[in-house]
Amino acid sequence: MKWLLAAALLALTGQLQAANTAAEVESLGNGPLLPRDGADAAVFRGGVVFANYCVTCHGINADGNGRAARLYNPRPANLRASDKNEQYMLLIIRNGGQAMARSQFMPPWGSELTDEQMRDVVSYLRSINVAGK
Ligand code: HEC
Repeated sequence: MKWLLAAALLALTGQLQAANTAAEVESLGNGPLLPRDGADAAVFRGGVVFANYCVTCHGINADGNGRAARLYNPRPANLRASDKNEQYMLLIIRNGGQAMARSQFMPPWGSELTDEQMRDVVSYLRSINVAGK
């Protein structure tokens, strides 16, 4: 009988621990590491999109010096120094360079990324822009 009690206690503490972990993850989600709402969250999410889809060409610093940059002429734009507004950025990201009478090597992302991801990546690009636009 004693061992049964011990086993039940063990199972219970195991569950309590699981609940604790879930609560911790939940609180992390609302903390500064993973902000969910507001401008900061959009910038954060956009940075993740950028790191996944754009760095090969535009570079980790968004200065147009990605690994593959030298393969393209014209070269991928320096996005930190871009003088384009949000609307233009959204359009060229969604529809690609060719649709905007620019290089075909800027791919269209409209069928790859969600609208939210495209808006987020633009928020990110605004946040690192040094052209003051
Ligand atoms: C295969 C290489 C490649 C990838 C990947 C790529 N781009 Fe580009 N991008 C380019 C090139 C090349 C240009 C310059 C086009 C030109 O000058 O005609 C460009 C231009 C741009 C521009 C216009 C900037 C300006 O000031 O005119 C924006 C904005 C942009 N890219 C955003 C992105 C984003 C966001 C991603 C990721 C979702 C991305 N690009 C992924 C190659 C790429």
